[in-house]
Amino acid sequence: MRSSLNHPPLLRRLTIAGGLAAALAFGTVSAAVGGAQAQGASGADVSADVSAATSAPLKDYDREIVDQFDSANSVSHIRHLAVDIGPRLNGTPQEREGAEYIGGILKSYGFDVTLQSWGPVSTKSVAKVTSPNADLPGGPNWQMAASTSAKFTGNDAVVEGQVVYAKTGQSAADFPDDVAGKIVLMDYNATASVRNTAVVNAVSRGAVAVILAYPTGNSAPPSFTLTTAQPNIPVMGGGSAHYTWITDLLAKGPLTLRITTNQYVNPMGTNVIGIRHAVGDPDGTKAPIVMVGAHIDSVLGAPGAHDDASGNGVSLEIARVLSQYPLDKELRIGGFGGEEGGLLGAKAYVNTLTAAEKARFVGEWQMDMVGTPYEPARLWALTPNGQSNFVVQEAYDAAARVGFDGLRNCRLGQSDHQAFYDVGIPSSLFIWLDYRPPAPPAVCGPTGGTYVTEPQYHKPTDTMDNISPERLQITLDVVGGAVAHNALNAVTVSATSDAGQPLAGAPVRADCGNGLRDLGTTGADGRLRTVLPHSTCDFTTTAEGRTATERGVSIAGDRAVKMTVDLTKPTISLTTPADGAVFTLGTAATASYRCDDNLSGVATCTGTVPDGSPLDTSTVGFHAFTVKAADNAGNVADQKATYQVVYPWHASFPETMEGKAGSAVPIKFSLGGDHGTGVIASGYPVSRPVTCATGKATGPAESTSSPGNSKLGYGDGQYNYVWKTDRGWSDTCRQFELKLDDGSSHFTTIRLK
Ligand code: BES
Ligand code: ZN
Repeated sequence: MRSSLNHPPLLRRLTIAGGLAAALAFGTVSAAVGGAQAQGASGADVSADVSAATSAPLKDYDREIVDQFDSANSVSHIRHLAVDIGPRLNGTPQEREGAEYIGGILKSYGFDVTLQSWGPVSTKSVAKVTSPNADLPGGPNWQMAASTSAKFTGNDAVVEGQVVYAKTGQSAADFPDDVAGKIVLMDYNATASVRNTAVVNAVSRGAVAVILAYPTGNSAPPSFTLTTAQPNIPVMGGGSAHYTWITDLLAKGPLTLRITTNQYVNPMGTNVIGIRHAVGDPDGTKAPIVMVGAHIDSVLGAPGAHDDASGNGVSLEIARVLSQYPLDKELRIGGFGGEEGGLLGAKAYVNTLTAAEKARFVGEWQMDMVGTPYEPARLWALTPNGQSNFVVQEAYDAAARVGFDGLRNCRLGQSDHQAFYDVGIPSSLFIWLDYRPPAPPAVCGPTGGTYVTEPQYHKPTDTMDNISPERLQITLDVVGGAVAHNALNAVTVSATSDAGQPLAGAPVRADCGNGLRDLGTTGADGRLRTVLPHSTCDFTTTAEGRTATERGVSIAGDRAVKMTVDLTKPTISLTTPADGAVFTLGTAATASYRCDDNLSGVATCTGTVPDGSPLDTSTVGFHAFTVKAADNAGNVADQKATYQVVYPWHASFPETMEGKAGSAVPIKFSLGGDHGTGVIASGYPVSRPVTCATGKATGPAESTSSPGNSKLGYGDGQYNYVWKTDRGWSDTCRQFELKLDDGSSHFTTIRLK
């Protein structure tokens, strides 16, 4: 089907994976509708969709909900109302049937449903025209105006007969030969006496019923009286479409029609009100109320597919999708009767509202004629005073979310939103209409504009052909999107650094029990505004590669969620080993350290050995000890310490001694046992000249030598190194340095004679 819009067509959604997952997780039953064909957008291959949804994060709730709106479901409701029921004139059983149908669907979605009777209203005289065998154009249930001057058959005395055409019925020549027992169609004439003659002529020829229909133009069925009453047969007025349809059918062959006429004397009108109470407010005394409305009734003769079965079709689809979510707002769906009689049902409804109830209204989104293929029509949000209001603004916001820039606002009453406006409830009429706003500089405010309705408006041709699924879909996305947005909780997530700075551009995700979803990124103020159902959610946000997590946040009502991103490293305090600590070989020492993180908390704290475990002192030398810490935001830190393990040193030589240059000096020491002869660091021992008075070195260190190169001996629990001094060192002082492979150095200074 063509998209007759002056903007790019919206992308249609083929998957409902996210929404389905939501429905399952919340444990709600998917809508099983008695008699109605309201299913999810794409019933097929659901399991594949769900598994696919686990791989990528889900969309935010605004998007998830809009993705589930499917105008095909709206079309099926419209078809039931406009085709299966047919015209739903105020006060007739069809208006009530419409209310019952809508109520039944709403019940299946878990709404509390009330049918309100109000009135009485003016007497209605109608003819129901069907055919036992012909496929009637425009739908199987035609409605004409029954003349009060003729017979009301009631439902039981059905008049059935072949139809013959008798032109204007003014002379014998107008009539075919055989009129007896037939239903006579004649041209409706504006002059009462002409009409009367035609009926009298038909009756005298044995007609069982008479239809006077407009032969030209585009007219609704006329109501008329006769100057010669005809109490024995039904007489009715047909619209120009009826005339054309009947004459076209007659051109193809015989046509049989079945007629009943009824007069409903001062009948009652019907509203249907579906209420879905908010979580935590089952009696409906405090929760904010979000309401959508449409009118059930149509004008005499019109199936009212567009005006206004379409509004109910959209309402019911909004109800279906929203019924899957636990909500803190009360949702009301209104189907009002008697709109065409002067907003009667809506006025009766608002009269039932207490002041406290009215004060709870967030707004009322009225939908009347929400998707005609009539090309010049555009989507308008019309208010009684021509000013924008909350309801209008929310629709603009919803339109922006789906990329629809065709919504406009101006002034009009003429539908049920007026009744809400009159009692101070923000409301707007959403309508696809060729509306012409006043030419600038005039503004919508004081007087509004003019409009041209589609040719089918208030006519028997307001049939399924006057329904555009594409435009219904736009209405669903815009009005349904606004309603959903307001029915969920408004949640502001703010992301701040631990230093208190707002974090812009931070992605925010949440899992509210049905999978991780992307909620978007924070703005320059560090805030993200989103909507969430009544749920408990885990939030995460990320800045500079660090993640903040808030678990178990209860979302009840509108609220703020604050997230602080920890950009600070964890701290490490390493007590043992302290950097530079020295341990004697084989002594017991216990590693002692801890990691702390004030904000996100310590995720890991790992040392070379675990805290409280023995430190390795089994080998001499320098040992590195490292502690690494990570916090839950992803900040990491480390701390290193070097400790030394040394032999248990005991020197059997003094710090200073005297000797003879050229003599061999035994340097004896013990290391707590025999560790072999490799205990001396390579290149050692050394000796260097020093000033006797100060011990300060006066020359470079030189390798020592020992007699016969016997470097080191071990015996009697002692090491012995024999240092051969040089004859040339007489009258000097030298420092002897023994460096061990544990890194320790030991000294003695000798004064040589
Ligand atoms: N669906 C129309 C609303 C409408 C308004 C259609 C403007 C086209 C243009 C509604 O059902 C209707 O017909 N309203 C009546 C007024 C009502 C107070 C009886 C109308 O506009 O004539
Ligand atoms: Zn209407």
